[in-house]
Amino acid sequence: MSPYEEVILEHWRNPRNKGRLERPDIDVVEANPLCGDVVRLQLALKDGVVTEARFDGRGCAISQAAASLLTEMIKGKALPELKEMKDEELLSALGGVIKTRLSCALLPLRALRKGLSESGKR
Ligand code: FES
Repeated sequence: MSPYEEVILEHWRNPRNKGRLERPDIDVVEANPLCGDVVRLQLALKDGVVTEARFDGRGCAISQAAASLLTEMIKGKALPELKEMKDEELLSALGGVIKTRLSCALLPLRALRKGLSESGKR
């Protein structure tokens, strides 16, 4: 099994931070236009730092495993750091992703960027 398959399977079987927050500061849903799969991402913030992160959704193992991994990566980070987060950070934490599944792997990161941009407008 490749490192990528191992990470995906592990998070798919044991998702981290799955569920909902009662009072999220950021609550965003993003869909993959290619398949309609969905990731919902919720963040609680304190002084501009992520204190809690949850995800939920419906989709392929890659998108849901990437969402699980992303919630772990962003906890404890400040908003400016999240805004700077590159695709490669998530992809390399996933162990590298085959190019044809990039839209699946990056779906939760697109949700995060959408949530950050919406929260900046409030
Ligand atoms: Fe839909 Fe992967 S097949 S997000």
